[in-house]
Amino acid sequence: MRYRKLGERQVSALCLGTLPFGTVVDEATSYALLDRFAERGGTFVDTANCYCFWLDGCCGEESELLVGGWLATRGRRGETAVATKIGALPDPGKGGEWPANREGLSAGLVARAARASLRRLGTERIDLLYGHVDDPATPIQETVSAFGELVREGVAAAVGISNQSTERLVRSRAEAIGQGVAPYLAVQQRHSYLRPAPGTDFDYQVAADDALFAYAAGQPDLTVLAYGPLLNGAYTDPAKELPAQYRHPGTAARLAALGEVARETGATANQVVLAWLMGGEVSVLPVIGVSSVAQLDEALDAVDLDLSADQRARLDLA
Ligand SMILES: NC(=O)c1ccc[n+]([C@@H]2O[C@H](COP(=O)([O-])OP(=O)(O)OC[C@H]3O[C@@H](n4cnc5c(N)ncnc54)[C@H](OP(=O)(O)O)[C@@H]3O)[C@@H](O)[C@H]2O)c1
Repeated sequence: MRYRKLGERQVSALCLGTLPFGTVVDEATSYALLDRFAERGGTFVDTANCYCFWLDGCCGEESELLVGGWLATRGRRGETAVATKIGALPDPGKGGEWPANREGLSAGLVARAARASLRRLGTERIDLLYGHVDDPATPIQETVSAFGELVREGVAAAVGISNQSTERLVRSRAEAIGQGVAPYLAVQQRHSYLRPAPGTDFDYQVAADDALFAYAAGQPDLTVLAYGPLLNGAYTDPAKELPAQYRHPGTAARLAALGEVARETGATANQVVLAWLMGGEVSVLPVIGVSSVAQLDEALDAVDLDLSADQRARLDLA
């Protein structure tokens, strides 16, 4: 495993996403995946207070509770950096359908939701607390101040944002610095090697864009994290279709370059994607999704794959 700095803390270069843990992925398998991740040096896990509320019979607490249970039974709290996210749960009081009725990031919600996550995770401090979604209805000043207050109180060691546009991220960080509170140190966006078609709408999800990387290149305190890096397995599993947003004329050249580098290195396409993300000018921290130990091992092996400058150039240019 390799490690890197996020805020004041060292974390593993890959973060293990736990979205389906405790629901689609049963408890025994989830524990086996977390055990294997830890055994191989993984120290950074990602959850949210809403995984997986959209499934029948689920309320959204399942993933946090599973992570909290694993940390307690395995005694791994000290070694593990836990990231969670708030703001995307449906608010029954708002009416309408999700995502229009999501809780959002008002000051009251941020304070309440963070404490509820602490209880489910069985911890006194969240290592990284994100706003899960942008909330244009709440002034940036209010949200940033609420997250900053959680850092001041010690509820969160560091804060971040997910699915916020680059323009609003830049404004949020400037606002935090102006207020003298902790700025977002992490931004988690949809991102992979394939590029979505220009102008693609992911609904509430926001993809990393060139503006984000241009900004992040000058912000050494900011970590860019990528969710959905393996496009749900579509790079390597012929049974999985590429998501519609990536089916456009530019994709063929990129898949060809990926295949070429995979053949040269003896790595899988998934591993080349992860190595490409981690080894860029702005080093991206992938949040991986896996449902078996074999998938996890494949992803973890990507940490040791160093692409040559020529291979990177071909991947970049395609
Ligand atoms: N901030 C946000 O809004 C947001 C949104 C989405 C996700 N996330 C986070 O990011 C994490 C990862 O997201 P994701 O699950 O969408 O990531 P992903 O990397 O796009 O997809 C993960 C899926 O890819 C498949 N896969 C992985 N390795 C494979 C292999 N070797 N061969 C074939 N298939 C393989 C598995 O599907 P099968 O299980 O079907 O085999 C796995 O569940 C989540 O757990 C969550 O923590 C955050």
